[in-house]
Amino acid sequence: MMPSPYHVPVMLRECIEAWVTDENGVYVDATFGGGGHSREVLSILGKSARLIAFDRDPAAAENVPDDPRFRLIQANFSLISNHLRFLGIEHIDGLLADLGVSSHQLDNTERGFSIRGDAPLDMRMDRSIKLKASTVVNSYSREQLEQLFRNYAEIREWRALAAAIVAERQQKAIKRTAELIRIGEGVCRDPKRNRFMAKVFQAIRIEVNAELEALKELLQQAAALLKPGGRLVVMSYHSLEDRLVKNFMRSGNFSGQIEKDFFGKPLRSLKPLPGMPISPSEEELKENSRSRSAKLRIAIRE
Ligand SMILES: C[S@@+](CC[C@H](N)C(=O)[O-])C[C@H]1O[C@@H](n2cnc3c(N)ncnc32)[C@H](O)[C@@H]1O
Repeated sequence: MMPSPYHVPVMLRECIEAWVTDENGVYVDATFGGGGHSREVLSILGKSARLIAFDRDPAAAENVPDDPRFRLIQANFSLISNHLRFLGIEHIDGLLADLGVSSHQLDNTERGFSIRGDAPLDMRMDRSIKLKASTVVNSYSREQLEQLFRNYAEIREWRALAAAIVAERQQKAIKRTAELIRIGEGVCRDPKRNRFMAKVFQAIRIEVNAELEALKELLQQAAALLKPGGRLVVMSYHSLEDRLVKNFMRSGNFSGQIEKDFFGKPLRSLKPLPGMPISPSEEELKENSRSRSAKLRIAIRE
Protein backbone atom coordinates (compact mmCIF):
# COMPACT_ATOMS: atom_id res chain seq x y z
CA MET A 1 0.00 0.00 0.00
CA MET A 2 1.26 3.54 -0.80
CA PRO A 3 1.65 5.50 2.44
CA SER A 4 -0.71 8.47 2.60
CA PRO A 5 1.08 11.83 2.77
CA TYR A 6 -1.75 12.94 5.08
CA HIS A 7 -0.79 10.31 7.68
CA VAL A 8 1.15 7.05 7.67
CA PRO A 9 -1.05 4.45 9.44
CA VAL A 10 0.59 2.90 12.49
CA MET A 11 0.66 -0.88 13.16
CA LEU A 12 -1.55 -1.38 10.14
CA ARG A 13 -1.33 -5.18 9.90
CA GLU A 14 -1.71 -5.65 13.67
CA CYS A 15 -4.81 -3.40 13.76
CA ILE A 16 -6.53 -5.08 10.81
CA GLU A 17 -5.92 -8.58 12.17
CA ALA A 18 -7.34 -7.58 15.54
CA TRP A 19 -10.32 -5.60 14.24
CA VAL A 20 -12.03 -7.99 11.79
CA THR A 21 -13.89 -11.14 12.89
CA ASP A 22 -16.62 -11.36 10.21
CA GLU A 23 -15.80 -10.20 6.70
CA ASN A 24 -19.39 -9.07 6.15
CA GLY A 25 -19.79 -7.40 9.53
CA VAL A 26 -20.35 -3.79 10.59
CA TYR A 27 -17.20 -1.92 11.61
CA VAL A 28 -16.33 1.50 13.01
CA ASP A 29 -13.15 3.50 12.46
CA ALA A 30 -13.54 6.11 15.22
CA THR A 31 -10.55 8.19 14.03
CA PHE A 32 -10.54 8.23 10.22
CA GLY A 33 -7.74 10.83 9.65
CA GLY A 34 -5.95 10.00 6.40
CA GLY A 35 -8.05 6.83 6.08
CA GLY A 36 -5.08 4.45 6.00
CA HIS A 37 -6.68 1.90 8.34
CA SER A 38 -10.09 2.32 6.70
CA ARG A 39 -8.80 1.73 3.17
CA GLU A 40 -6.88 -1.35 4.24
CA VAL A 41 -9.84 -2.89 6.03
CA LEU A 42 -12.13 -2.20 3.06
CA SER A 43 -9.68 -4.15 0.90
CA ILE A 44 -10.36 -7.33 2.90
CA LEU A 45 -14.05 -6.87 3.81
CA GLY A 46 -16.86 -8.54 1.85
CA LYS A 47 -19.49 -6.92 -0.37
CA SER A 48 -22.16 -6.58 2.30
CA ALA A 49 -19.86 -5.27 5.04
CA ARG A 50 -20.26 -1.71 6.33
CA LEU A 51 -17.61 0.67 7.62
CA ILE A 52 -18.69 3.81 9.45
CA ALA A 53 -15.87 6.25 10.17
CA PHE A 54 -15.73 9.31 12.42
CA ASP A 55 -13.45 12.32 12.47
CA ARG A 56 -14.12 15.65 14.12
CA ASP A 57 -11.73 17.46 11.78
CA PRO A 58 -13.48 18.45 8.51
CA ALA A 59 -10.11 18.18 6.69
CA ALA A 60 -10.35 14.36 6.93
CA ALA A 61 -13.17 14.44 4.34
CA GLU A 62 -10.60 14.90 1.56
CA ASN A 63 -9.50 11.27 2.11
CA VAL A 64 -12.90 9.58 1.73
CA PRO A 65 -12.68 6.46 -0.47
CA ASP A 66 -15.19 5.98 -3.26
CA ASP A 67 -16.83 2.86 -1.84
CA PRO A 68 -20.55 2.21 -1.25
CA ARG A 69 -19.77 0.25 1.94
CA PHE A 70 -18.15 3.32 3.53
CA ARG A 71 -19.51 6.39 5.26
CA LEU A 72 -17.68 9.22 7.05
CA ILE A 73 -19.39 11.14 9.82
CA GLN A 74 -17.81 14.46 10.72
CA ALA A 75 -18.39 14.39 14.48
CA ASN A 76 -16.81 13.80 17.84
CA PHE A 77 -16.62 10.07 18.51
CA SER A 78 -18.07 10.75 21.95
CA LEU A 79 -21.44 10.86 20.12
CA ILE A 80 -20.99 7.49 18.42
CA SER A 81 -24.13 5.76 19.76
CA ASN A 82 -26.43 8.57 18.65
CA HIS A 83 -24.98 8.65 15.15
CA LEU A 84 -25.10 4.88 14.72
CA ARG A 85 -28.69 4.75 16.02
CA PHE A 86 -29.60 7.39 13.45
CA LEU A 87 -28.18 5.07 10.75
CA GLY A 88 -30.23 2.15 12.17
CA ILE A 89 -27.12 0.40 13.56
CA GLU A 90 -27.51 -1.09 17.03
CA HIS A 91 -24.56 -3.46 17.16
CA ILE A 92 -21.11 -3.57 15.62
CA ASP A 93 -18.50 -6.27 15.07
CA GLY A 94 -15.41 -4.20 15.73
CA LEU A 95 -14.19 -0.70 16.53
CA LEU A 96 -10.77 0.80 15.92
CA ALA A 97 -9.62 4.02 17.60
CA ASP A 98 -6.20 5.40 16.64
CA LEU A 99 -6.09 8.29 19.10
CA GLY A 100 -4.44 11.69 19.03
CA VAL A 101 -3.58 13.91 16.10
CA SER A 102 -2.68 13.05 12.50
CA SER A 103 0.57 14.04 10.78
CA HIS A 104 -1.52 16.36 8.64
CA GLN A 105 -2.68 18.25 11.74
CA LEU A 106 0.83 18.34 13.20
CA ASP A 107 2.57 19.35 9.97
CA ASN A 108 0.08 22.08 9.16
CA THR A 109 1.89 24.64 11.31
CA GLU A 110 -0.95 27.16 11.11
CA ARG A 111 -3.06 24.95 13.38
CA GLY A 112 -0.74 25.45 16.32
CA PHE A 113 -0.26 21.76 17.30
CA SER A 114 3.45 21.72 16.56
CA ILE A 115 6.39 22.89 18.67
CA ARG A 116 8.17 23.68 15.38
CA GLY A 117 7.58 26.97 13.61
CA ASP A 118 5.37 29.80 14.85
CA ALA A 119 1.57 29.86 14.62
CA PRO A 120 -1.49 31.22 16.39
CA LEU A 121 -2.25 29.32 19.61
CA ASP A 122 -5.21 27.34 18.30
CA MET A 123 -4.91 23.50 18.64
CA ARG A 124 -8.58 22.76 17.89
CA MET A 125 -9.20 19.55 15.94
CA ASP A 126 -12.64 20.88 15.08
CA ARG A 127 -12.38 24.60 14.42
CA SER A 128 -16.08 25.18 15.09
CA ILE A 129 -15.59 24.72 18.85
CA LYS A 130 -14.99 27.89 20.87
CA LEU A 131 -12.16 26.95 23.21
CA LYS A 132 -8.72 27.60 21.71
CA ALA A 133 -5.25 27.13 23.16
CA SER A 134 -4.98 30.93 23.47
CA THR A 135 -8.10 30.96 25.71
CA VAL A 136 -6.56 28.34 28.00
CA VAL A 137 -3.22 30.17 28.20
CA ASN A 138 -4.67 33.65 28.67
CA SER A 139 -7.79 33.10 30.76
CA TYR A 140 -7.33 30.03 32.94
CA SER A 141 -6.45 30.89 36.53
CA ARG A 142 -2.99 30.13 37.81
CA GLU A 143 -4.40 27.18 39.80
CA GLN A 144 -6.12 25.79 36.69
CA LEU A 145 -2.88 26.05 34.72
CA GLU A 146 -0.96 24.35 37.52
CA GLN A 147 -3.40 21.44 37.52
CA LEU A 148 -3.22 21.21 33.74
CA PHE A 149 0.59 21.06 33.62
CA ARG A 150 0.81 18.77 36.61
CA ASN A 151 -1.84 16.26 35.53
CA TYR A 152 -1.73 16.34 31.73
CA ALA A 153 1.90 17.28 30.99
CA GLU A 154 3.33 15.43 34.02
CA ILE A 155 6.25 17.88 34.23
CA ARG A 156 8.16 18.82 37.41
CA GLU A 157 8.03 22.50 36.51
CA TRP A 158 4.19 22.73 36.61
CA ARG A 159 4.14 25.46 39.22
CA ALA A 160 6.93 27.57 37.65
CA LEU A 161 5.41 27.34 34.18
CA ALA A 162 1.96 28.44 35.37
CA ALA A 163 3.55 31.37 37.25
CA ALA A 164 5.64 32.41 34.21
CA ILE A 165 2.57 32.38 31.95
CA VAL A 166 0.56 34.47 34.41
CA ALA A 167 3.43 37.00 34.74
CA GLU A 168 3.83 37.27 30.96
CA ARG A 169 0.14 37.72 30.18
CA GLN A 170 -0.08 40.57 32.69
CA GLN A 171 2.18 42.47 30.26
CA LYS A 172 0.41 41.35 27.08
CA ALA A 173 -1.73 38.50 25.80
CA ILE A 174 0.16 35.36 24.69
CA LYS A 175 -1.04 34.70 21.18
CA ARG A 176 1.53 32.57 19.36
CA THR A 177 3.20 29.20 19.81
CA ALA A 178 6.68 30.77 19.67
CA GLU A 179 5.81 33.00 22.66
CA LEU A 180 4.68 29.97 24.66
CA ILE A 181 7.87 28.12 23.72
CA ARG A 182 10.01 31.04 24.86
CA ILE A 183 8.20 31.11 28.24
CA GLY A 184 8.46 27.32 28.56
CA GLU A 185 12.17 27.31 27.81
CA GLY A 186 12.69 29.89 30.55
CA VAL A 187 11.48 27.45 33.22
CA CYS A 188 12.51 24.10 31.70
CA ARG A 189 15.00 22.00 33.72
CA ASP A 190 14.82 19.04 31.35
CA PRO A 191 17.93 18.80 29.12
CA LYS A 192 15.59 17.58 26.37
CA ARG A 193 13.78 20.84 25.70
CA ASN A 194 11.76 19.55 22.79
CA ARG A 195 10.44 16.70 24.89
CA PHE A 196 9.46 19.16 27.61
CA MET A 197 7.69 21.50 25.19
CA ALA A 198 5.96 18.57 23.47
CA LYS A 199 4.47 17.61 26.85
CA VAL A 200 3.33 21.18 27.49
CA PHE A 201 1.68 21.38 24.06
CA GLN A 202 0.11 17.97 24.55
CA ALA A 203 -1.41 19.07 27.87
CA ILE A 204 -3.01 22.15 26.31
CA ARG A 205 -4.23 20.13 23.31
CA ILE A 206 -5.85 17.56 25.61
CA GLU A 207 -7.67 20.37 27.42
CA VAL A 208 -8.77 22.23 24.27
CA ASN A 209 -10.19 19.11 22.66
CA ALA A 210 -11.48 17.53 25.92
CA GLU A 211 -9.66 14.41 24.75
CA LEU A 212 -9.86 12.32 27.91
CA GLU A 213 -13.59 12.95 28.37
CA ALA A 214 -14.22 11.97 24.73
CA LEU A 215 -12.15 8.80 25.13
CA LYS A 216 -14.08 7.75 28.25
CA GLU A 217 -17.37 8.25 26.40
CA LEU A 218 -16.11 6.28 23.42
CA LEU A 219 -14.94 3.31 25.50
CA GLN A 220 -18.20 3.07 27.44
CA GLN A 221 -20.36 3.34 24.35
CA ALA A 222 -18.18 0.93 22.36
CA ALA A 223 -18.53 -1.75 25.06
CA ALA A 224 -22.33 -1.46 24.77
CA LEU A 225 -22.33 -1.45 20.95
CA LEU A 226 -20.06 -4.44 20.36
CA LYS A 227 -21.61 -7.85 19.70
CA PRO A 228 -20.34 -10.75 21.84
CA GLY A 229 -17.01 -11.77 20.28
CA GLY A 230 -16.61 -8.28 18.74
CA ARG A 231 -13.30 -6.47 19.06
CA LEU A 232 -12.28 -3.18 20.62
CA VAL A 233 -8.92 -2.09 19.20
CA VAL A 234 -7.35 1.08 20.62
CA MET A 235 -4.01 2.67 19.85
CA SER A 236 -2.83 5.41 22.20
CA TYR A 237 0.23 7.65 22.22
CA HIS A 238 0.65 8.77 25.81
CA SER A 239 0.29 7.31 29.27
CA LEU A 240 -2.87 9.22 30.26
CA GLU A 241 -4.82 7.66 27.40
CA ASP A 242 -3.19 4.27 27.73
CA ARG A 243 -4.06 4.10 31.43
CA LEU A 244 -7.74 4.76 30.74
CA VAL A 245 -7.80 2.14 27.96
CA LYS A 246 -5.95 -0.45 30.03
CA ASN A 247 -8.14 0.03 33.11
CA PHE A 248 -11.36 0.02 31.12
CA MET A 249 -10.49 -3.12 29.18
CA ARG A 250 -9.63 -5.07 32.32
CA SER A 251 -12.31 -3.84 34.69
CA GLY A 252 -15.04 -1.98 32.77
CA ASN A 253 -14.29 1.19 34.75
CA PHE A 254 -11.52 3.79 34.81
CA SER A 255 -10.09 2.99 38.23
CA GLY A 256 -9.03 -0.48 37.07
CA GLN A 257 -10.60 -2.18 40.15
CA ILE A 258 -12.47 -5.31 39.06
CA GLU A 259 -15.87 -5.46 40.76
CA LYS A 260 -17.52 -8.86 41.16
CA ASP A 261 -21.13 -9.98 41.47
CA PHE A 262 -22.57 -12.07 44.30
CA PHE A 263 -21.18 -15.25 42.70
CA GLY A 264 -17.67 -13.80 42.23
CA LYS A 265 -18.10 -13.23 38.49
CA PRO A 266 -16.29 -10.05 37.28
CA LEU A 267 -18.72 -7.26 36.38
CA ARG A 268 -17.18 -6.28 33.08
CA SER A 269 -18.17 -6.77 29.48
CA LEU A 270 -14.71 -6.84 27.87
CA LYS A 271 -11.80 -9.20 28.20
CA PRO A 272 -8.33 -7.94 27.22
CA LEU A 273 -6.29 -10.26 25.00
CA PRO A 274 -3.13 -11.53 26.70
CA GLY A 275 0.21 -9.97 25.74
CA MET A 276 -0.99 -6.36 25.65
CA PRO A 277 0.11 -3.72 24.86
CA ILE A 278 1.60 -4.34 21.43
CA SER A 279 4.31 -1.89 20.28
CA PRO A 280 5.53 -1.17 16.75
CA SER A 281 8.21 -3.49 15.36
CA GLU A 282 11.82 -2.33 14.99
CA GLU A 283 11.26 -2.18 11.25
CA GLU A 284 8.21 0.09 11.59
CA LEU A 285 10.07 2.34 14.05
CA LYS A 286 12.85 2.78 11.49
CA GLU A 287 10.37 3.68 8.74
CA ASN A 288 8.03 5.85 10.78
CA SER A 289 9.48 7.59 13.82
CA ARG A 290 6.02 8.95 14.69
CA SER A 291 4.94 5.43 15.61
CA ARG A 292 7.45 5.57 18.51
CA SER A 293 5.08 5.99 21.42
CA ALA A 294 2.18 3.91 20.05
CA LYS A 295 0.62 1.24 22.26
CA LEU A 296 -2.03 -1.05 20.88
CA ARG A 297 -4.56 -2.77 23.14
CA ILE A 298 -7.21 -5.24 22.05
CA ALA A 299 -10.20 -6.55 24.01
CA ILE A 300 -13.02 -8.95 23.14
CA ARG A 301 -16.64 -8.30 24.06
CA GLU A 302 -17.75 -11.21 26.27
C1 LIG B 1 -3.85 9.43 14.60
S1 LIG B 1 -5.05 10.15 13.55
C2 LIG B 1 -5.79 8.74 12.79
C3 LIG B 1 -5.05 8.26 11.58
C4 LIG B 1 -5.74 7.20 10.79
N1 LIG B 1 -5.84 5.97 11.51
C5 LIG B 1 -5.03 6.97 9.47
O1 LIG B 1 -4.64 5.83 9.17
O2 LIG B 1 -4.85 7.94 8.73
C6 LIG B 1 -6.30 10.62 14.68
C7 LIG B 1 -7.50 11.28 14.03
O3 LIG B 1 -8.57 11.21 14.99
C8 LIG B 1 -9.27 12.40 14.99
N2 LIG B 1 -9.86 12.55 16.32
C9 LIG B 1 -9.21 12.69 17.49
N3 LIG B 1 -10.09 12.79 18.50
C10 LIG B 1 -11.32 12.67 17.96
C11 LIG B 1 -12.64 12.67 18.50
N4 LIG B 1 -12.87 12.85 19.82
N5 LIG B 1 -13.67 12.49 17.66
C12 LIG B 1 -13.46 12.32 16.33
N6 LIG B 1 -12.23 12.34 15.76
C13 LIG B 1 -11.18 12.50 16.56
C14 LIG B 1 -8.25 13.47 14.65
O4 LIG B 1 -8.88 14.59 14.07
C15 LIG B 1 -7.33 12.73 13.68
O5 LIG B 1 -7.69 12.98 12.35
